[in-house]
Amino acid sequence: MSIELKEVTTEVDWEALHTLRETVLFTEARHPGVVYDPAHPHDTNPAHTKLLLIKEGEPVGCTRLDPRPDGLVVVRLVAIANHLQRQGLGRDLERLALDRIRAMGSPKAVLNAAADAVGFYEKCGWTREDWDLTDGGAGATSVQMSKAV
Ligand SMILES: CC(C)(COP(=O)(O)OP(=O)(O)OC[C@H]1O[C@@H](n2cnc3c(N)ncnc32)[C@H](O)[C@@H]1OP(=O)(O)O)[C@@H](O)C(=O)NCCC(=O)NCCS
Repeated sequence: MSIELKEVTTEVDWEALHTLRETVLFTEARHPGVVYDPAHPHDTNPAHTKLLLIKEGEPVGCTRLDPRPDGLVVVRLVAIANHLQRQGLGRDLERLALDRIRAMGSPKAVLNAAADAVGFYEKCGWTREDWDLTDGGAGATSVQMSKAV
């Protein structure tokens, strides 16, 4: 099985990224009233790495890595395609993202976990840590977590 975390570069990649986010993350159930912005400045910021999880040539998941001035890297907008969840792909994405963060020279990865995703991150070895309460992340009910890389 081939699996890789690929940087978003082409129009086709961007389309796949937006589709995954819109169908998994920016749903009415998860974020009522929020309209997904495909041209958000946090995405166009070249310091932020947009990534697709590619399995057997098909995009199956995505995330974005945002380095901070203090050396931490924030893992944002993690999604696995709805019909492919709970088959181990989230673990693959997490492992490959941590490899990348290690290669960036960061000592620690951090994130804002949606309340219903905390159990997933705990299974992957993340622990609860308030790393920056001014970073809103996934919303008021999100849980700040970290993992040494
Ligand atoms: C959360 C998400 C990324 C996990 O990816 P996944 O491919 O479904 O997870 P995996 O199949 O790799 O699961 C790894 C382990 O975590 C567990 N797990 C997965 N999702 C879980 C959840 N929401 N709560 C608790 N445990 C979870 C699995 O049971 C598995 O445990 P096991 O190894 O003991 O069997 C994915 O389900 C998803 O995209 N969810 C919707 C969006 C979301 O919540 N994104 C995160 C926002 S911060």
